[in-house]
Amino acid sequence: MKKIDWDTLTFDITPAEKMFISHNRDGKWDKGSIVSYGTVPVYPSAVVLNYGQGIFEGMKAYRRKDSSIAMFRPFDNAKRLNSGCKRLHMPPLDERFFVESITNLILENKEYVPPYGKGDLYIRPVLFGSGQMLGVQPANEYTFVIFMSPVGPYFKAGFSGVKIEIRDDFHRAPLYGTGNVKAVGNYATSLYPRSLSKDRGYDEVLYLDARNSLYVEEVGAANFFMLKEGVLSTPKLGGSILPGVTRDSVLTIASKVFGLQIQERDIRYDELFSAYELFCTGTATVLTPILTVGYKDKKYKIGDGKPGKTTKEIYDELKGIQLGDREDRFGWVYKVD
Ligand code: PLP
Ligand code: COI
Repeated sequence: MKKIDWDTLTFDITPAEKMFISHNRDGKWDKGSIVSYGTVPVYPSAVVLNYGQGIFEGMKAYRRKDSSIAMFRPFDNAKRLNSGCKRLHMPPLDERFFVESITNLILENKEYVPPYGKGDLYIRPVLFGSGQMLGVQPANEYTFVIFMSPVGPYFKAGFSGVKIEIRDDFHRAPLYGTGNVKAVGNYATSLYPRSLSKDRGYDEVLYLDARNSLYVEEVGAANFFMLKEGVLSTPKLGGSILPGVTRDSVLTIASKVFGLQIQERDIRYDELFSAYELFCTGTATVLTPILTVGYKDKKYKIGDGKPGKTTKEIYDELKGIQLGDREDRFGWVYKVD
């Protein structure tokens, strides 16, 4: 194993030595195998390359204080992957097979799980149409791969907070499109708007609904939360927003642990300008405070410009549960070893 500097981990790829690969060639998934990390050959006519028939998941393995390894709600990722398979007309995976394949691969890549408090092992399952087609049709063969990489914070600034730009000139997902599943194409279309916002000094884009360009949807790769007048609100799920596992966990923690009033509703973009605290959530982004919101040529500072108290409390509880430092009162922790 190549030496890794655990103190300088970012979200760049440092592939763990082993990956998992399984094929579906005759309507059934084979049992798959663990192989060395490397290329996955596909024909130029593979449906994923031509028509984007592909989906992925994002999960983490956490090193705990006692050095054991755990995952967080992995069956929820299995369910979401399968709902995406249905939407993209791909064969689903048995949930247990999905979780066990990941568990076995983590055990093979154990030394890539960063030490407690230094980062996590990011897990990336990808399922795609590898069969060849010329016309727009579902593939007749599929490939499922899992690779892993030790990671640090998704945004360079980490918990110290980010700047986001509200854009109404690009949308992430239409109402009955694929916004509620992790289709690979959703992310391709976010690259150009993101680059425009980056050039203007922002870390990410905050998208509005495709029908009215009025209501907040989500950040490029994370769900969105707003704290205002004692209420924690998040955009309601309706077909165009990804149902994040972290989003659901934050709603539960906020109401059950901290007794906050929570609302899943339409949030108008201009409500944000006078919010007390804003943050985004995801496996990669965890809970990241949003400290500046831009809209057209205006910039709005949120709260006192520092990560808010409630954001920090919810972050500490979530991370505490994942790292085994706080009681797993909702039964979310899945032990790996
Ligand atoms: N929204 C989008 C578009 C994402 O890509 C992600 C990441 O998976 C999330 C939200 C957060 O989802 P989760 O909390 O399940 O990681
Ligand atoms: C995750 O949070 O795991 C994601 O999948 C987001 C990703 C696009 C980096």
